[in-house]
Amino acid sequence: KEESKLDLISRCIRPFPDFPSEGILFRDICPIMKSPAALTAVIDLFEQHVLECHPVVDLIVGIDARGFLFGPLLAQRLGVGFVMVRKKGKLPGPTVSVAYTLEYGTAEAEVQEDSVSPGQKVILIDDLLATGGTLFAACELMKKLRAEVLGCLVVVSLKDLSGADKLKPHTVFPLIQFC
Ligand code: PRP
Ligand code: ADE
Ligand code: MG
Repeated sequence: KEESKLDLISRCIRPFPDFPSEGILFRDICPIMKSPAALTAVIDLFEQHVLECHPVVDLIVGIDARGFLFGPLLAQRLGVGFVMVRKKGKLPGPTVSVAYTLEYGTAEAEVQEDSVSPGQKVILIDDLLATGGTLFAACELMKKLRAEVLGCLVVVSLKDLSGADKLKPHTVFPLIQFC
């Protein structure tokens, strides 16, 4: 049964060579969003993992932009709040920010200072783990706010880019892995 949920999700991830730049094999998750059954399967599997491995969680923290597609749905399932880590310059009020590099560029991530209280238990969520630069930056932001990161969730992990190593000691739970 779980296998068929994973099959359904896998069939909704398309490879695009040389996007957004030469040498990058882009894994497009847009078809997941177009399939209610696949999107439900993603949230089902994340929910099951969180209930099993992290029974006490205060907040789901999603990463701009594609982390926002899955994070709020999971947060609602779990009955907890959702916090946005945004690209720099989008959030009003006092913020903390951190610069990072990702597989095909650089960026700066930002979160509101009052979005997470010291000691709160959070789970980070994004669509995809490549080099880990993005999720590492989000972990840094959570550290600045003195939140406790329970783990990271991604739909897709690109194994050969060793993002999971970069995130240690934080753990990553991927639904689908590619080389
Ligand atoms: C993509 C993807 C992840 C990140 C992974 O985001 O959604 O957030 O790259 O790469 P990394 O593990 O090497 O850091 P991107 O900022 O390109 O676009 P988005 O705004 O559409 O999420
Ligand atoms: N973000 C970073 N690397 C990516 C890739 N290869 N496909 C989709 N999103 C990405
Ligand atoms: Mg992203």
